[in-house]
Amino acid sequence: MDKIIFNIPDIEIFRGEIILEFSYLLAALFFVYGLKLLSHPDTARRGNLWSAGGMLLAMFTTIFLYRGGADHTTIKTANLLVIFVAIAIGSVVGALVARRIKMTAMPQLVSLFNASGGAASALVALIEFSNPDNSSALVTLLGLAIGSIAFSGSMIAYGKLDGKINDIFTKWMTYINLVFLAGVVVLVVLILMPDTPNKQLLVYALLGLSIVYGVSFVMPIGGADMPVVISLLNSLTGIAAAMAGFIYGNQAMILGGIFVGAAGMILTLLMCKAMNRSLINVIIGSFGGGGAGIDREAGIIKEITVSDAAVLLSYSSKVVVIPGYGLAVAQAQHACNEMEKLLEDKGVEVKYAIHPVAGRMPGHMNVLLAEADVPYDKLIEMDDINPDMPNTDVVVVIGANDVVNPAALDDPSSPIYGMPIINSHEAKNVIVMKRGMGKGYAAIENHLFYDDKTRMLFGNAKDSLQKLVTEIKSL
Ligand code: TAP
Repeated sequence: MDKIIFNIPDIEIFRGEIILEFSYLLAALFFVYGLKLLSHPDTARRGNLWSAGGMLLAMFTTIFLYRGGADHTTIKTANLLVIFVAIAIGSVVGALVARRIKMTAMPQLVSLFNASGGAASALVALIEFSNPDNSSALVTLLGLAIGSIAFSGSMIAYGKLDGKINDIFTKWMTYINLVFLAGVVVLVVLILMPDTPNKQLLVYALLGLSIVYGVSFVMPIGGADMPVVISLLNSLTGIAAAMAGFIYGNQAMILGGIFVGAAGMILTLLMCKAMNRSLINVIIGSFGGGGAGIDREAGIIKEITVSDAAVLLSYSSKVVVIPGYGLAVAQAQHACNEMEKLLEDKGVEVKYAIHPVAGRMPGHMNVLLAEADVPYDKLIEMDDINPDMPNTDVVVVIGANDVVNPAALDDPSSPIYGMPIINSHEAKNVIVMKRGMGKGYAAIENHLFYDDKTRMLFGNAKDSLQKLVTEIKSL
């Protein structure tokens, strides 16, 4: 019988690969546990740390244990140097930006990070396309196209969230987008065909066209529809990263990418439901832009003084607070919590109505209010609180605008028409706290402010709430 002879280097390679695979499995478990913790504001911070820990483990085991090529060599010392310098620069920049960023600018930061993820995946695909060892041409081309679309789309989303780019909408946009998308598909097919000449040139054309499609697809999306597109771009970046993982046969990249892609897709579908849009609309683009709404007679604005507002609230039995983006801008969550506690001490029932797209990122209001220790069971989802609106004595709208705009229900020409809103106009009294008559993200008039039942309390939300707290205490 032949003897099986192992030599020592073989055993070392084998041992290294086992440890590497095991570390990927462990990293995947960290990702899953992190995701589970992310589902609640109390545990979200720990969830981030667990997931980041998983990524750190996968990165360092890959750097030190990965062996590539036919001779199973480890990464060369010169390349290790480049890798660590890049990691050091990236970590310092990331840490500085994350520490300095204001909570209200977080969505822009997320878009920028998302764009970097898409660009990284596209670059991996671009470089690996001409690698003779790469046997997965379709996956590489899809990674290139999806990564590039996610990159340019996220950059435009960043510009829009930051107010640097306006919507560009024409009714031709839908057709133009369809032509670009078809062009991307045709290029992928052409490159895959064995006899196509000048493939490298076509690969660059695919890169260019995908970048252009990313821009044209996000550009016209206006009004209140950005949340859907942001989560879709997030999902695309995850899918592009998973494609890059397939190119290298790296399980950690594949799993990480699939988690992001799947979570982003679930969020996209939830956002579509919240905005009452179909996903196909989003992919073709140009929904929600255009119309500016019916130009109705504005009516008369009625103001309320702080002392009248304090009396009205203190002698109510049911109060619903509707937080919006302005609450985040003013950082008024602690003052808001103080007002809620004072009212409850007076026997008033206080709840918060949470719209799924209030603020500028998914879960924005939940995170903000959790920061001020508002108990989670006081936050009521839009669908659950709406039936209660007619029985509510006072609704206090704090820095919210689009999410309480009745045009979404009764003005078919409005860009937000069809979006479910919190039906504050059905409550017995409405107090709106904002600085002036500034519009919301969708840049449209809100006739709730002119409603007979509405009284405006103008000023920065934090200042108004602090004055209200002082006044309620004195009653
Ligand atoms: P918005 O409609 O954006 O309205 C915010 C209001 O807050 C403004 O009208 C502004 O009026 C007021 N405001 C600003 N700073 C303030 C301050 N310091 N104190 C008091 N008020 C202040 O907010 P919303 O109702 O939360 O709606 C969110 C919008 O953003 C939706 O259209 C949504 O689609 C869009 N969006 C959401 C997301 C996600 S994922 N949540 C992402 C992108 C876009 P004044 O200037 O008069 O004060």
